[in-house]
Amino acid sequence: MVLEVLKYPDPRLRKKGLSVKAVTPEMQELARNMLETMVAEGGIGLAAPQVGESVRLLVIDTRPTDEEGQPTTEGLSELESKVVQPIVIFNPEIKVATDKTTYEEGCLSVPGFFETVDRAQYVEVEGLDIDGKKVTIKTDGLLAICLQHEMDHLEGKLFIDRLSFVKSNKIKSRIQKHGYPTPEEAAEERAEARERRKVAKDAVP
Ligand code: NI
Repeated sequence: MVLEVLKYPDPRLRKKGLSVKAVTPEMQELARNMLETMVAEGGIGLAAPQVGESVRLLVIDTRPTDEEGQPTTEGLSELESKVVQPIVIFNPEIKVATDKTTYEEGCLSVPGFFETVDRAQYVEVEGLDIDGKKVTIKTDGLLAICLQHEMDHLEGKLFIDRLSFVKSNKIKSRIQKHGYPTPEEAAEERAEARERRKVAKDAVP
């Protein structure tokens, strides 16, 4: 079932997620619905507070898709391509975070806006998988960035909170005054951000 994704400034996005005591069938069902929602919305990650559930649960799939819509490992880093995706992780905790990177991030809860955010380049994250078994994810690349972005949601934090005061306020007041761009406009913004990332990547020697 595709769930409704809450948008900033919905106050539910500001609530801290509670630890999951046990991975019950209800929690597994929520995880499956979140995966379905993430795919339907064209996102690479989704945190439970974004669908109004204040629990510590993330779903992620950073794999690009080919022309037939099949996931590939093309363009993924070596570490990232070794991680089995899609990921479902309950109670994720960052155990190691090293080095720095930046990425032009977006969010399904702030559709149509993209800004560069500072993140750790490499992370090790521990948590429970959909069967309640302990897992450790060791990765860099887009997956490391995505894990950090989604874990922020569990603290009630959005990527726009990590920008400079000026940039953050510009986005917030634009949303307040004009609302969100249409889905078509948001898709256009997303395509442009993707192009900009490609150019930035090519520029790196
Ligand atoms: Ni987000």
